[in-house]
Amino acid sequence: MNSSQYGRRSFLRWLATSPAWTLGGAGLLKAFATGARAEDLITAADQALNVLEFEAVARQNLPPWHYAYLATGVTDDSTLRANREAFARYQLRTRRLRDVKNVDMSVELFGTRWESPIMLAPVGSQRAFHPEAELATARAAAAQKHNFMVSTHSSTGVEAVNEALGRPAWFQLYPTDDWNVTRAVVNRAEKAGCPVMVLTVDSQNGALRDTLFKIRRSAPVKCTDCHVGGFVYSAVAGRRPMFEGLDMARVTTQLPLDMTWDVLPRLKELSSMKLVIKGIVTREDAELAIQHGADGLIVSNHGGRSEDSNRASIDCLPEVIAAVQGRVPVLVDGGFRRGTDFFKALAMGARAVCIGRPYLWGLAAFGQAGVETVLSLLRRELQIDMRQAGAASVAEITKDFLVER
Ligand code: FNR
Repeated sequence: MNSSQYGRRSFLRWLATSPAWTLGGAGLLKAFATGARAEDLITAADQALNVLEFEAVARQNLPPWHYAYLATGVTDDSTLRANREAFARYQLRTRRLRDVKNVDMSVELFGTRWESPIMLAPVGSQRAFHPEAELATARAAAAQKHNFMVSTHSSTGVEAVNEALGRPAWFQLYPTDDWNVTRAVVNRAEKAGCPVMVLTVDSQNGALRDTLFKIRRSAPVKCTDCHVGGFVYSAVAGRRPMFEGLDMARVTTQLPLDMTWDVLPRLKELSSMKLVIKGIVTREDAELAIQHGADGLIVSNHGGRSEDSNRASIDCLPEVIAAVQGRVPVLVDGGFRRGTDFFKALAMGARAVCIGRPYLWGLAAFGQAGVETVLSLLRRELQIDMRQAGAASVAEITKDFLVER
């Protein structure tokens, strides 16, 4: 079913009378019903003042259940909110009269220099947001010269993504509980030239996405009308191009519950790709990851979509940086929407910062042009913030620029 068959207006009429309203935790649900006034929405990517303006257009363009998949978190969405709210606790100590005429935002990662520290986090199922899906995202990342990580659950196979990107993407791995399947997927990513494998360790099947489920449960269409096989993991994975041609009979989950740190050396034996662990939020796990061979870490709580820790990514970053002590690069994601958000993470010692939802808003709003504009706006904000703070390069962004309230 698509939005043309079941328009936003009829959904909102239904939502107004839906029992979903009586079920508490209604902040996000209210946001679904509120919408934006048509005259407040931008109608072309180049009208956007900031990336937040894409969200309202994405919400208007998508069927509500797809928008809910993009927007929501788990249980009361508290980790999702924490990811944004935490930035307010860190203030900037801006310096004056420094030479910031030329601002260098470039960073180096595994031998490659990127013009910007802003990278595109892996996000599966991008066809739910735009027909051109990951191809539009990859073309935008290429045009704007940003790093793109392709998900195991991508709607598009890694080879086609790499072609659109004009270089091999980083490949994000959900390991599954069938090692034959894991090996085949890893081999395929390596054969496609991917230089880095990102192992996601923070997202088990069965997350309590109550807000999404409330919207789905009461929606006038059933997800299974389109999603053949429903949301049983083997059926979800079976539809993904990265699992095409593989025997999925024994696969039951994306992240086995009995998987432990010894999976890292096993994965390293499978390929020569660098191994980055995504989803680290503590000093203990940072240390264990390095001891087991991790080449890099991404501090992440999956954009608040997995755990009800109520602990923001930006709050987890300092302890991970302190534990790592420069041995491997540390990236971070979760709630980054403004130039100053990136600046704060870089000041804490992050090598690079990833975004998820902002580029999906751009994609859902205006396809490739939307993603491109999201990236250029964020770069522009970071550049302005660096100038205003008095930092001419990423290396100059030190913790001296930060005060914690
Ligand atoms: C994700 N994320 C994710 N992560 C991952 O490792 N593999 C995946 O397939 C997905 N899929 C996915 C789908 C959707 C709709 C979202 C919003 C997110 C998590 C993603 O990589 C990243 O950690 C967060 O999106 C970062 O938070 P923000 O920027 O969305 O707040």
